[in-house]
Amino acid sequence: RGTPAKRRGEILWAISDLVLAHADELARIEVLDNGMPIAMARGLLDGVVEGFRYFAGACTRLHGRTADMGEDLEYHAFAVSEPVGVAGLVVPWNGPLASLGNKLAPALAAGCSVVVKPAEQTSLSTLRLAELVLEAGVPPGVVNVVTGTGPAAGAALVHHDDVDKISFTGSLEVGRGIVAASAGNLKRVTLELGGKSPVFVFDDADLDAAVPVVGAGIFANSGQVCFAGSRVYAQPGIVDDLVAGLVEHAKGLRVGNGLDAGTQIGPLISERQRARVLDYVASGLAEGGEVVTGGVASGGVGYFVEPTIFTGTRADMRIVREEIFGPVLTVMPFGGLDELPGIGNAGPYGLGAGLFTRDLGVAHRAVRLLDAGNVWVNCYGRRDRSLPFGGFKQSGWGRENGPEGLDAYLEKKSVYLHL
Ligand code: NAI
Ligand code: MG
Repeated sequence: RGTPAKRRGEILWAISDLVLAHADELARIEVLDNGMPIAMARGLLDGVVEGFRYFAGACTRLHGRTADMGEDLEYHAFAVSEPVGVAGLVVPWNGPLASLGNKLAPALAAGCSVVVKPAEQTSLSTLRLAELVLEAGVPPGVVNVVTGTGPAAGAALVHHDDVDKISFTGSLEVGRGIVAASAGNLKRVTLELGGKSPVFVFDDADLDAAVPVVGAGIFANSGQVCFAGSRVYAQPGIVDDLVAGLVEHAKGLRVGNGLDAGTQIGPLISERQRARVLDYVASGLAEGGEVVTGGVASGGVGYFVEPTIFTGTRADMRIVREEIFGPVLTVMPFGGLDELPGIGNAGPYGLGAGLFTRDLGVAHRAVRLLDAGNVWVNCYGRRDRSLPFGGFKQSGWGRENGPEGLDAYLEKKSVYLHL
């Protein structure tokens, strides 16, 4: 907090340059840890660079404001923003550096010191980034990394009375626990939890354009994405063709070692995650769903699950209601706009939603009907640093990115100065 804003901006920009210069190395570490395709890991690093640059610019734009006290000209009244203090950053394994960047860049821009707790499955890229952060000129002691498991290192951090703020991305269950743990000193908490994001394909959609986008919306990173479009609804006139197109898309995806340049789908993060996903597949079958492609673990070494599509599912089935965090999609018919709130807003989540239609009026009306922090029309998963990212309802508290993302690391101080 003692580093002037201008200097903080320079340091953040220096971090971005170092991340870019080491992007291939960092991407490789990420793949070794997580298994994601190398092209995806490298692409995510461009986003990390962008994030540090966006928030580098924000450092010198931390303006306060003055108030007009009306008749009482004997006052000068103003408000300033100050760093919230020590921020604990608890990061998941599905996009380690991307998620860390969304927290670390605004935290440093705000002038906070941080303690990072990477996921136990994927600590290596964070440790390497921390070295680069020091090299960029962040004063020693400002960025700290504590590796360890959630119940040990994570719990110690979220319970600690000298920690002023927690930013967490991960499961709903741990998110709830963090809210409870924060009660001790009422630390500030922002949460980026999961989703069960719906995608609606209207009869008039451009099917050829929609299929690969809807497919990537669920199968990218083997479905281990908080905003994965995991339940698709299509109008009756298009549903059969959509399913046929998605099945072909899924079968054409190259599943394999993330370090092979041609790989499109890597393994799941762990044996436990694969078991969890296969358990969901079994429950979907037991409850009467039909697997039209995939549904099994791929052979060989590694925790691979084939891209899987279910039809014949119902709203009450677990695979339609619960976040699977795997490459499992359900496709069901829906009638039209009036069904959107009932279907789209069912359940505890509200992170993302997708719409495919060529009718601008339908698109705008649909956008208004959906309780979701991010709505994508004729695209899916696009994001920009300058816009808030986060969820309605139990998908989280607060937002990352944009001015909102910076605000999450600031306290506001109003000052009344009698002349
Ligand atoms: P998790 O929520 O347990 O892990 C995320 C992070 O929280 C890790 O760094 C972990 O060490 C930490 N953590 C765990 N317990 C903690 C505690 N008591 N106190 C403080 N930190 C703690 O997620 P998990 O168990 O790896 O995955 C289970 C499910 O969670 C997934 O299948 C998925 O549905 C969801 N998930 C959602 C993510 C998202 O991006 N929103 C990311 C990871 C998981
Ligand atoms: Mg857990």
